[in-house]
Amino acid sequence: MKFLFSSLGKKLQIAFSGLLLCFFLMMHLINNMALFIGPEVFNKMVATLESIKPIIRVMEAGLLIILVMHIGNALQLTFLNRKASQNKYSNQKTSSLNSRTMAVSGTIVLLFFIIHLRYLWYTYQAHLFIDENETYYDVILRNDWGYLGHTPTAIFYILAIMFIAFHIKHGFQSALKTFGVLKQSRIGFLYGLSFIFWGFIPAMFIVIIISIQTGIIN
Ligand code: HEM
Repeated sequence: MKFLFSSLGKKLQIAFSGLLLCFFLMMHLINNMALFIGPEVFNKMVATLESIKPIIRVMEAGLLIILVMHIGNALQLTFLNRKASQNKYSNQKTSSLNSRTMAVSGTIVLLFFIIHLRYLWYTYQAHLFIDENETYYDVILRNDWGYLGHTPTAIFYILAIMFIAFHIKHGFQSALKTFGVLKQSRIGFLYGLSFIFWGFIPAMFIVIIISIQTGIIN
């Protein structure tokens, strides 16, 4: 138990929660890919999820706990690193630069989360439809601030997703270095595999946004 609160234990908690967040992102992408199939399928999928609301609420609570675990431990570690680098006997310049980069990209990801939830998630939860004909599918395509038919919002989303990709890439690099007890060849393999999370999945989210902006999804 004491181990979990040590510096290495905190890193383990960050890595574990980060990996779970990556799996959420993969499931979220799969759901959103239904936008390519068409409004009927997408709306039916959201309606099915609505019909199992209590289960979804438990999963959302789990997601929130994982997010708090990730951010809480990251903040504590940044604070500890900063304290250590103030110590004249320690030379932690590189590590504090890395954690600063992660803190900046992490903050942008958090800002994206707030905007994403404030508009898309909240509109869905509160059923804030413009009229009785508007569907879940149409909400995403609205040409209004906070929705993806709106070009400045789409640009903000693309930039934020690039930061998310950067954050995940550095997260994997740093975790594999910290827990680099495996053979070098295995680390190379795992790093290659991590491309799915920091390269492929973010790229597919961007493809969805560009498809909305260019009318491929309409
Ligand atoms: C093309 C890009 C995206 C679209 C169209 C999209 C769409 C949506 C929609 C419609 C919801 C509301 C779901 C509901 O309440 O049933 C939602 C929720 C959510 N999204 Fe996204 N999303 C996108 C990208 C992202 C990204 C990149 C992240 C994370 C970094 C993210 C994280 C979340 C979270 C945490 C929730 C709330 C949890 C949930 O209810 O599933 N989304 N998204």
